Amino acid sequence: MKNNIKNVAVVGTGVIGTGWIIRCLAHDKKVVAFDKDLKLKKRLVAEIKRTWPYVKKLFNKKKLNLKNFIYVTSIQEALKEADFIQECATENYKLKTKLMKVIGNYAKPNAIISSSSSGLLPTKIYSKCKNPARTMIGHPFNPVYMCPGVEIVPGKKTKNKFLNKANKFYKSISMNPIMLKKELPGYLSDRLQEALWREALHIVNEGYATTKDLDRAIEDGPGLRWSLMGTFLTFHLAGGKAGMKHMLEQFGPALKLPWTKLKAPKLSKKLSSRVINGTRKQAKGKSVEKLSKIRDEYLLKLQKLRKKYEDKIRK
Ligand SMILES: NC(=O)c1ccc[n+]([C@@H]2O[C@H](COP(=O)([O-])OP(=O)(O)OC[C@H]3O[C@@H](n4cnc5c(N)ncnc54)[C@H](O)[C@@H]3O)[C@@H](O)[C@H]2O)c1
Repeated sequence: MKNNIKNVAVVGTGVIGTGWIIRCLAHDKKVVAFDKDLKLKKRLVAEIKRTWPYVKKLFNKKKLNLKNFIYVTSIQEALKEADFIQECATENYKLKTKLMKVIGNYAKPNAIISSSSSGLLPTKIYSKCKNPARTMIGHPFNPVYMCPGVEIVPGKKTKNKFLNKANKFYKSISMNPIMLKKELPGYLSDRLQEALWREALHIVNEGYATTKDLDRAIEDGPGLRWSLMGTFLTFHLAGGKAGMKHMLEQFGPALKLPWTKLKAPKLSKKLSSRVINGTRKQAKGKSVEKLSKIRDEYLLKLQKLRKKYEDKIRK
């Protein structure tokens, strides 16, 4: 999709900032990056090069144009030309609120400011930011260069004009934005993920299963279906010919049991070491980098396959 935003600034170049930079470069945006940790530049360039073979195939690109990328040493410099600012600093209310004030002061008056936050309320993090009408959350999924999802969450002072511009911008970098009507903690996807994660921690804590068993329980069943159909459509099919109606009649009463616990377990030393050792064992000595490579190759093939099938459902 065409969009007139060309100049993008990324603040914070850890896991998520790096992902945004790669996705934007693959769509010919000019990207200026800044992180308070200046040592990250080398790692970032290596990551751009590592991921390019997958990114290139996913977006049908020929050449990586590193001329479109600049790493600067001050936030002021990073923001001066930017029309779209994607903030990707550490998740923390205090830090982000302070940072948004700085960003608001240095940004062009109508530059869009979007935070990658995984669940913080935009009204709160932009409470000290100049012109909050142009501020919002643009919550992506890791790896950002592979996953098309982004949740756009407005704060109480955000204006529709800027939300629509952001929507267009994200589409121009091949994303499928979900526009939330209003802010809520954790937004959509992380609320769902957290519920699953909390239950998994309870099960490990109580010794019913290992991290590996729980991962298989997702990978071999729900996970296989979820990339094509979410919870509701999946359960519609689980109800047989009568669909969701029968599903609710049959499994609705189980909701009252209930199977699950609402509060998370305490992250005790015992639970933390079960989770850390369990996942370490599952990795079978492979580094995070090696596993990321395998995941990227898989996500590339999966998305090509998904494209063939999703239109049959969504159109
Ligand atoms: N990791 C994920 O799976 C994921 C997914 C979606 C969204 N997010 C969100 O993205 C954001 C970044 O997460 P991450 O996983 O990349 O974290 P990270 O720890 O990998 O990177 C954070 C970076 O922010 C930098 N930073 C901190 N304060 C700064 C400042 N004042 N100015 C400039 N840079 C600063 C740090 O030096 C670090 O490089 C968070 O808000 C997080 O909730 C993370």
